[in-house]
Amino acid sequence: MDTETLLKTHSQQHLLKSYEKWNEAERENFDRQISAIDWSILESLNAGNAEKGEIRPIDGISLREIEANRAAYEKAGKAAVKAGKVAAVLLAGGQGTRLGTSAPKGTFNIGVTRPLYIFQQLIENLKEVCAQCGAFVPLLIMTSEKNDEETRAFFEQHEYFGYPKNCVRFFVQEMAPCVDLSGKLLLESKGRLASSPNGNGGWYLSLARAGLLEDELLSAVEWFNVFAVDNVLQRIADPAFVGATILSKRKSGAKVVRKARPEEKVGVLCLEGGLPSVIEYYELSEELANLKTDTGELAYGFGVTLNYLFHAQTLKKIAAEKIPVHVAKKKIPYMNESGELVEPESENGYKFETLILDMIRLMGSCLPYEVEREKEFAPVKNKTGIDSVDTARVLLEKNGVKL
Ligand code: UTP
Repeated sequence: MDTETLLKTHSQQHLLKSYEKWNEAERENFDRQISAIDWSILESLNAGNAEKGEIRPIDGISLREIEANRAAYEKAGKAAVKAGKVAAVLLAGGQGTRLGTSAPKGTFNIGVTRPLYIFQQLIENLKEVCAQCGAFVPLLIMTSEKNDEETRAFFEQHEYFGYPKNCVRFFVQEMAPCVDLSGKLLLESKGRLASSPNGNGGWYLSLARAGLLEDELLSAVEWFNVFAVDNVLQRIADPAFVGATILSKRKSGAKVVRKARPEEKVGVLCLEGGLPSVIEYYELSEELANLKTDTGELAYGFGVTLNYLFHAQTLKKIAAEKIPVHVAKKKIPYMNESGELVEPESENGYKFETLILDMIRLMGSCLPYEVEREKEFAPVKNKTGIDSVDTARVLLEKNGVKL
């Protein structure tokens, strides 16, 4: 279908007026974007939340159990890492809007008396595990169109912070178009739609599209450890976590922290209709949020930290399945009809994202694996306040990192 027909079919003919005024190169660019749109994403604007079934607590392993079995878990995990069965996937395609910088979040300097970049700290954490296991872990870094060049250049400039470059691959995630509050596509500039990274739920498809599943580096990989860019304390390819997940025979694992209080704003792992699921804090009733187990712990107390293990063969099987698209109201800069760029002061449209937490359900089973918050959870989401540069610095220092 040509651009005009596509726009008319999807009630987006408001863009035709501008289209007529553009030069050939701008039109060609626009044609390419329009033909690549997954229109089903826009339909999620009108879709309700799908019913997933009865909510039940999920079995996980606590810090106490981990300590009791640490030797066995570590043995299994170290063997897997050493045999090249574990790859690490760093999700770095987000825009980090809350941190208020347009640069890739990983390039943020959290040091005080010396430069210490977020990427650098993550690489240091990974290097520790590599030293323990006697092997380098393949590291796959997901970027987006908006930050790919800058991210690669940053790693080059810092010589990969001492990590072997031949063990690192970059891949670029897809973009999703943005719409205004009435569902109409917005323009960013002449011949260019306003768009944003399509969320972290598309990481596996983007990895596959980039041809990396056939890459020699991943030839032995059986598990992907996928993690967020902003938790500077997390252990990556953590042998005990890997070993515990393998030995549990579950198809995925999630590093979780115990909720500090019932009303804490964190997504929790549970079962929904018998399948593992992450339920957002605002979806959990007060009654369930306060429910206690026989041993007095919160029944829905496993908060996710965005550090997951995925079984590679199972990922292959579920790759074609659709995951829900989440719609978020945001401020979206756009070009108006007079060709001027407008920076809106309030939310003027929607962005579309798929989320990695929705993949857990498709995996069929998941092992919640508890980690100590003070030792493994220091997300840098905001400049100050909760989950900020300030709180992360305090925790890094507590863990002996020189800032
Ligand atoms: P967040 O949900 O914290 O989003 O991402 P963000 O973009 O980093 O920050 P805000 O919300 O704009 O302030 C969690 C993780 O998922 C990655 C992020 O880079 C981070 O590691 N992510 C998010 C992607 O890789 N791609 C995306 O499209 C979105």
